[in-house]
Amino acid sequence: MSGLFDRFGFGRREVALRPARAADAEAMARLHAASFRLGWDSAEFERLLANRLARAWVATRGPSGAVLGFILLSGVSPEIEILSIAVAPSARGHGVGRRLVEAAFGALAAEGFTAVFLEVEEGNRAALSLYARSGFREIGRREGYYRTGTGQPAAALTMRRDIA
Ligand SMILES: CC(C)(COP(=O)(O)OP(=O)(O)OC[C@H]1O[C@@H](n2cnc3c(N)ncnc32)[C@H](O)[C@@H]1OP(=O)(O)O)[C@@H](O)C(=O)NCCC(=O)NCCS
Repeated sequence: MSGLFDRFGFGRREVALRPARAADAEAMARLHAASFRLGWDSAEFERLLANRLARAWVATRGPSGAVLGFILLSGVSPEIEILSIAVAPSARGHGVGRRLVEAAFGALAAEGFTAVFLEVEEGNRAALSLYARSGFREIGRREGYYRTGTGQPAAALTMRRDIA
C-alpha cells in the first residue's frame, strides 16, 4: 500500500502513542476534516480536550513526530463513548486505528471504566472492520440517522465493548 508509511519506511513499531494534549487540537482538527464531511475545527477540539469527561490519545510518527491519528472519548465512569476516531488517509490500513483503540481500552480499564459505546454509519466498512476486530458488538440501530455523501439515509449502528 502506498502512502506515508511506505514513503518514509515507517512500520508498526515507529508509531508512538500518547495521551492527547491541548497543543494537538489543530492536528486533530486537520485529521478530522480529512476524514469526515462535517469537520470540527481546532477551537472545538480545544474545548473537547479541556472537558474533564474527555479522554483522548494520539498516534504519532515516532515519539515526537506528526500526529497520524487520534481517538477521542467522553463519559462518566463506568461507561464511556467514542466521540471520534480518525487516522490520516495516507497512514490507514497499517494498524494505527487498532492500536489507538487498544491503548484507550488499556488506560480506561485501569481507570475503572467497564464499557465503551460508539455509533457508526452502517456503510462505513473500514470503521466496522476496526470495531469488529476490536471486539465491539452491535446493540442497536437507528434508521436514517445519517445522510450519505449522495444524500441517502443511512442507519447508525450502536455498538458496545466491555473492557472490564
Ligand atoms: C476507521 C479508521 C479509523 C481505521 O483506521 P486504520 O488505521 O486504517 O485501521 P487499522 O489499520 O488499524 O485496521 C483495523 C482493522 O480493520 C480492517 N480495515 C481497515 N480498513 C479497512 C477497509 N477499508 N476495509 C476493510 N477492512 C478494513 C483491517 O484489516 C484491520 O483488521 P485486522 O486487524 O484484522 O488486520 C480509518 O479508516 C479512518 O480514519 N476512517 C475515517 C474516519 C472514520 O470513519 N472514523 C470512524 C467513525 S465511526
